[in-house]
Amino acid sequence: MDSLASASSRFVLVCQHRSCARNQSADVLAAFQALAPEGVLVAATDCMGQCASGPTVQVAPEGIWYCRVTAKDVAEIVEQHLGQQQPVQRLLHPRFHFQWQGEVE
Ligand code: FES
Repeated sequence: MDSLASASSRFVLVCQHRSCARNQSADVLAAFQALAPEGVLVAATDCMGQCASGPTVQVAPEGIWYCRVTAKDVAEIVEQHLGQQQPVQRLLHPRFHFQWQGEVE
């Protein structure tokens, strides 16, 4: 089953708790609400436990976490991730999505 291909049961969760709110997560939420395609539910959440790297966004059910998201990033996430099923690598939360950046010896 390809969960990325199923848009009808997808959610974008945007933290609105203290640390994220101090970093303009309300603007991030508003941008997702304006741009998310039909069938994708956008919801505000309480703290998701990633306060030091907010604003925190999670796309479900695939469980992709984004960190330090700004309102300017939202169009890219919507187009690339929600539209083309390709998560935006540069915004992935490294705690959940380890990316090897060095060279293999
Ligand atoms: S305040 Fe947003 S993850 Fe904790």
